Formats: sequence, C-alpha cells, structure tokens
Amino acid sequence: MKRLAVLGAGGHGKVVADTAQCCGWELVEFFDDSWPSRTRNGDWSVVGNSTTLLERLQEYDGVIVAIGNNTVRHGKLSELLASSAPVVSLVHPAAVVSRYASIGAGSVVFAGVVVNADASVGIGAILNSGCSVDHDCRLADAIHVGPGARVAGGVSIGEDTWIGIGASIRQMVTVGAQVVVGAGAAVVNDVSDNVVVVGVPAKVVPGS
Ligand SMILES: CC(C)(COP(=O)(O)OP(=O)(O)OC[C@H]1O[C@@H](n2cnc3c(N)ncnc32)[C@H](O)[C@@H]1OP(=O)(O)O)[C@@H](O)C(=O)NCCC(=O)NCCS
Repeated sequence: MKRLAVLGAGGHGKVVADTAQCCGWELVEFFDDSWPSRTRNGDWSVVGNSTTLLERLQEYDGVIVAIGNNTVRHGKLSELLASSAPVVSLVHPAAVVSRYASIGAGSVVFAGVVVNADASVGIGAILNSGCSVDHDCRLADAIHVGPGARVAGGVSIGEDTWIGIGASIRQMVTVGAQVVVGAGAAVVNDVSDNVVVVGVPAKVVPGS
C-alpha cells in the first residue's frame, strides 16, 4: 500500500489529500501541531505533529507539506529535504502539464490547472485550482498561484510570492519575492520584492 504523510491539516491540506488519492496514493495521513487534541481533518486521520513526522518518516513512501503560508511551507519543506525525506510532488490527473515544463519537489498542481511548454516551477509551489502558467515562465520556490489566476508567457515570480485568486500577470513581467498580489489584480508592470499590490492596473499598497 502506498502511504503518504501530509504535514498541515487545514483546508489546503484536505485538497492536497484528495488530490493525492486521485494520484493513486492509497493511504493518506496528516501530521499537524494541533495533534493530539485534533485527530481528524475531514475524511483523514491526524496521527502526529511535525516532530513525530520526522521520527516516523520510514513508515511512509512519500511526504508533502500542505501549509498554506508560503514562508512557513518553504521552511518546513527545506527541513524535510535536509533530512533526505522522500518529498513528492502531486499533479492532479485533471491538470494539463506540458511534457516540456518542470515542477519541483513538494509542489502541488490541482485540478483544472494548465502549465505550458518550458515553464519551470520551483519546489514547494501551489498551483491552485484552475490557474494557468504559460510558456517560459520562471516561478521560484514556495510560490502560490491562486485559483483561476492567469500568468502569461515569460513571467518571472520570486520566492514565497502569492498571486491572489483571479489575478492576471501580463507577459514578460517580473514579480519579486515575498510579494502579495491581491485578488483580481492585473499586474502590467514589474513589481519589487516585499510589497502588496492590488487593483487594475495593480499598484503598490502604501506602507506594505
Ligand atoms: C490584498 C489582500 C492581501 C489585502 O488583505 P488585507 O491586508 O487583510 O486588507 P483588507 O481586507 O483589510 O483591506 C484593506 C483595503 O484594501 C482593499 N482591498 C483588499 N483587497 C483588495 C483587492 N484584492 N483589490 C483591491 N482592493 C483590495 C479593501 O477594500 C480595503 O480598502 P479600504 O481601506 O478603502 O476599505 C487581500 O484582500 C487579498 O486580495 N488576498 C488574496 C486572497 C486570495 O487570493 N484568496 C485565495 C485563497 S486560495
């Protein structure tokens, strides 16, 4: 039986678990720091926390981090990779990923996603339901492209950046690291690191 350990038993974790089952993982179990007071996440059991996960890794064929916060997910994934854990990526069977695209370890690609030729996606990324990442994009580690967001050809996105639900990024634009692009924004110019941008066209939120 193929066993997958999932770190992070929130709502995002449920979608990761469901996607894992669609990908053929037969037993999916959660680890979360709310354990042992919490023992269920939807249909799945919570069986340990982040410390016991490291002790029990040999019981699993794969492990993935399903924490929504990009920076936290990035840190936990780096710890697992440093301890040679069998980190896997998941691509839902209803996603379309070009054979010429690359998806890093620990990344998840949910249903309805399209990733086109020569796009590269780093480790620990979330490509959420129905988003698209077009040709020649460079998406760094631990990014999150929200549901239905559109990333046009040749876009670069820096580490830990979150592209909000329904946002659009114009072709060839560079979005920095640790950026938040608000829901529904249209990014038509480059965005520097560590800012929040919102609106159509997207502008930096003062003080962000
Ligand atoms: C941009 C964002 C991060 C701001 O969150 P926040 O700091 O909590 O901001 P608030 O909700 O307090 O709103 C602050 C102001 O910004 C405005 N605002 C918030 N989000 C906005 C958006 N996406 N576009 C335009 N304006 C926005 C609010 O209307 C408010 O304006 P006001 O001060 O004139 O009343 C957030 O609203 C957002 O868009 N997050 C992405 C959500 C998402 O993608 N969810 C999918 C999860 S899978």
